[in-house]
Amino acid sequence: MKETFYVTTPIYYVNDVPHIGHAYTTIAADVLARWNRRSGKEVFFLTGTDEHGKKIDEAANKANKSPKEFVDQLIPHFTDAWKLLNISNDKFIRTTDKYHEEAVKTIIKKIQEKGDIYKGFYEGLYCVGCEAFYTEKDVENNTCPIHKKELERVKEESYFFKLSKYQKRLLEFYSAYPSFLSPTKRANEIISRVKQGLNDLSITRTSFNWGIPFPGDEKHVVYVWFDALPNYLSGVGYPRDNYMNFWPADVHIVGKEINWFHSVIWPAMLFSLGIEPPKMVYAHGWLTVNGEKMSKSLNNFITPKQIADKYGVDTFRYHILRDIAFGDDGDFSEASLVERHNSDLADALGNLLQRSIVLSKKNFDFPTSSELEDIDGELIAESQKLNFAHKHIENLEFHKALEVIWAFIRNCNKYLNDTAPWKVKDKSRIATILYNIFESLRLTTAFIEPFMPETAGKISNQLGLEIPSFK
Ligand code: MSP
Repeated sequence: MKETFYVTTPIYYVNDVPHIGHAYTTIAADVLARWNRRSGKEVFFLTGTDEHGKKIDEAANKANKSPKEFVDQLIPHFTDAWKLLNISNDKFIRTTDKYHEEAVKTIIKKIQEKGDIYKGFYEGLYCVGCEAFYTEKDVENNTCPIHKKELERVKEESYFFKLSKYQKRLLEFYSAYPSFLSPTKRANEIISRVKQGLNDLSITRTSFNWGIPFPGDEKHVVYVWFDALPNYLSGVGYPRDNYMNFWPADVHIVGKEINWFHSVIWPAMLFSLGIEPPKMVYAHGWLTVNGEKMSKSLNNFITPKQIADKYGVDTFRYHILRDIAFGDDGDFSEASLVERHNSDLADALGNLLQRSIVLSKKNFDFPTSSELEDIDGELIAESQKLNFAHKHIENLEFHKALEVIWAFIRNCNKYLNDTAPWKVKDKSRIATILYNIFESLRLTTAFIEPFMPETAGKISNQLGLEIPSFK
């Protein structure tokens, strides 16, 4: 049986159209999915939308639409953006899909049967932007640290999930599976907060009704995060047994602001269900614009289409993964995008390709190694270094993988300059040089494809070669 690989993005709130921050996570997940397909694995790549809760309810009210009408008209903005960016997701899940709602109800019933849900009264602070509860000690001046808005005071009857019960089990789990909390620098923060103790989690609301009715007490709706996290299971078929074809997920890619939900609440829910947690939660940094997290109110909202239309999809995909280390925050800037495009894509790769095509047309059909008198194996030996990129991808260090790939592309250019086939008279020597260049380009397209599928496709067409799989 083929080895499997299951990768997810967060499901995005559909209170507005997607911006390049959402695209950042989605492109990273796409690179992992494509890389693993090319490595011969059976991949499942899930993305989708988070459609219930107060935030969506408020946005719909503001737009004078019913919540369902409101989300339905926003969905094409997400699916179109992902199509434009060549995102190769296997499925797009919506939390308003019937099968998902049923899966959430099954999950809640099972957690109830386990004795992990009880009825109580919630009183505390809430941020609608985060859809998260805060305690007074977490914040200053009753203000949300992310949205910088005054927090709402919530006082209502609620069902609770016994999160506190899982403190010890979580700590044991983190220490047994250190790569679950990735990258390493995020682990301490989670572990030290869990060590301080866990409050039980309020998992229903009664003050609005845009959500999944709570099984057995339908004046409550399920808290949006308790509805959203199970998408990772329902998206691969849960509660049908076939979910186990892909579960446990290999990696949930998330932004750092939602790490807590994925690294603490989600595994605790899974412990309660008796299901294995995912192998890794990778919390990446923020893509900022002028140093700020993107938002309409700050006037720094950029859509993927704006950038793709202006500079091309692959330039955008390349730039955001090359110029920002994935675990860190980084500022998006059109100036550095243009600089990258010129130096790496036009100069290094474009030139190499152009010169190779011109040369080959002038001289020969592409030679094969068996037709050569002398192989002159240095460049091909050097191409082995491309394989270092595998380890970087495994660690989600996309910028380092690209560095390795482009170092080799620069080597190919150097080989062409040094061997200068245009000055060579001896046909068999020219054949050797061309063989080395085309074989190197052929190998390189496999490494380029996950990042820039369109570019890899063009190279393969122009040179008439098939993009190989990783051995
Ligand atoms: N709906 C929840 C996630 C539920 S997952 C079970 C949510 N949605 S969101 O629309 O706010 O999207 C959050 C994710 O989008 C972030 O975690 C991150 O992956 C991505 N990003 C949104 N803005 C971003 C940046 N400015 N920079 C980088 N990533 C960004 O939270």
